[in-house]
Amino acid sequence: METLIGVNESVYIYGNSEAAVTAVDRVSFDVPTNSVIGVVGASGCGKSTLLHMMSGLLTPSSGSITYAGDDLYKMKDKKRTILRREQFGFIFQAYHLLPGLSALQNIRLPLLLGNKPIDKDYENRLCQTLQISQRLAHYPSELSGGQQQRVAIARALIMKPRVIFADEPTGNLDTAAKNEVFELLLECVHSFGSSLVIVTHDESVSSQIDTLYTMSDGKLIHKGGREN
Ligand SMILES: Nc1ncnc2c1ncn2[C@@H]1O[C@H](COP(=O)(O)OP(=O)(O)OP(=O)(O)O)[C@@H](O)[C@H]1O
Ligand SMILES: [Mg+2]
Repeated sequence: METLIGVNESVYIYGNSEAAVTAVDRVSFDVPTNSVIGVVGASGCGKSTLLHMMSGLLTPSSGSITYAGDDLYKMKDKKRTILRREQFGFIFQAYHLLPGLSALQNIRLPLLLGNKPIDKDYENRLCQTLQISQRLAHYPSELSGGQQQRVAIARALIMKPRVIFADEPTGNLDTAAKNEVFELLLECVHSFGSSLVIVTHDESVSSQIDTLYTMSDGKLIHKGGREN
């Protein structure tokens, strides 16, 4: 299978000298096109740091990350910014919605920034599946945690990204909503040929994961998944 994202001996160190923390410790693995990769592991083991590095948000201290064969951190900043906006969808652990924009404005922000047309049918379908259609005029501060999470998911999917990075995307949702969100993510993988990299503690999704890794103290260990 074709490699979409390559993680090559990547290291991330926060701080320096005595206070330095090696959050990601020489990790190497591939994300093939059209695949579902799962990452599990204890709190503080480095999962979010790894996702941020893979998605162009944190420059590795050493090693490299490639996207479609190009080194993500050697390309021009502008190219990486556009790539992130147009081809990557990121569902953050802390939703990162803009407080001054309504739910709908938050969802459409990537389209606005990229000067892309709105696919109304798709937008409606996303909002219906995520059950936020009745809340689109509300501001983030007027939404529950789970609703904010679902708005953030819609924003990540609105561009039909080639890669979806999802950092505990269902952390704040009940079981029924969890299953629907996960189905929606898988539907995106299947209909746009995307890849999904998901951090989750949710055992119920593991049957759908092609390759599952465990992180422990910054190291990544292959654990299993459907392929094995
Ligand atoms: N901005 C930062 N400055 C210094 N250390 C940090 C920073 N962010 C994270 N760390 C440290 O790096 C390590 C990995 O953190 P990270 O957030 O990647 O873990 P995680 O696996 O996502 O945890 P959780 O499951 O709690 O979200 C932890 O030891 C954490 O304390
Ligand atoms: Mg985290």
